[in-house]
Amino acid sequence: MRVTPLALGRHLEQVLAVQCRANRFDGVETAARGAVLRRRIGTPALDAVGAFRAGELVGYAYGAPLDDGWPWARHVMAELGDAPGGGPYAGLGRPYAVLELHVDPGSWRQGVGRALLHRLCAPVSQRWVLLTRQRSATAAGRFYAALGFSELGVSVGDEGYVAMAAGRARGGPPSCPFGGR
Ligand SMILES: CC(C)(COP(=O)(O)OP(=O)(O)OC[C@H]1O[C@@H](n2cnc3c(N)ncnc32)[C@H](O)[C@@H]1OP(=O)(O)O)[C@@H](O)C(=O)NCCC(=O)NCCS
Repeated sequence: MRVTPLALGRHLEQVLAVQCRANRFDGVETAARGAVLRRRIGTPALDAVGAFRAGELVGYAYGAPLDDGWPWARHVMAELGDAPGGGPYAGLGRPYAVLELHVDPGSWRQGVGRALLHRLCAPVSQRWVLLTRQRSATAAGRFYAALGFSELGVSVGDEGYVAMAAGRARGGPPSCPFGGR
């Protein structure tokens, strides 16, 4: 497996196909996700990485520094409280946000997701990483927990999504996804 930076625009169809297979999206959902992806391609500061096997995309992830212009981002940060003492990530500044991460079902449980998350997050300068996942996506929750993320107790989008985060412990060694295994 090869994990490399990914030009989303150039691999749009493959990216969408992986996302749809991973989540069993129907045609309507696929079209909606394609529209989101096309909008996001223009987002400055978006980083994307892809995992390839024999030239085929088997997984990808992308993210960007948290942007207060995103309504969910404002909501999560307000809920967490940005003041010292306001939560485990208070005083650590704005996080890096993982926006999507999907692996083709044929490649699940082979370390692809872990490799993608590490590759995406290793170079970031932010001191913590934030993401949201569907509350019902419990397998994804276990994956993120295995990678050092914990739930923040903050719901997003009518309770349908939960926020999770991981960061460098203050004064301690970097935790996943910044380093380690
Ligand atoms: C969640 C997902 C990205 C995981 O990708 P993956 O490549 O299978 O994950 P990895 O093989 O790197 O797993 C790393 C560790 O996470 C944990 N893990 C991964 N999938 C898990 C599952 N289904 N149940 C429990 N733990 C899981 C394990 O601890 C695993 O280590 P191990 O295999 O040595 O036990 C993938 O299942 C997926 O794309 N799911 C559908 C889309 C999705 O939910 N994306 C996330 C959106 S927020």
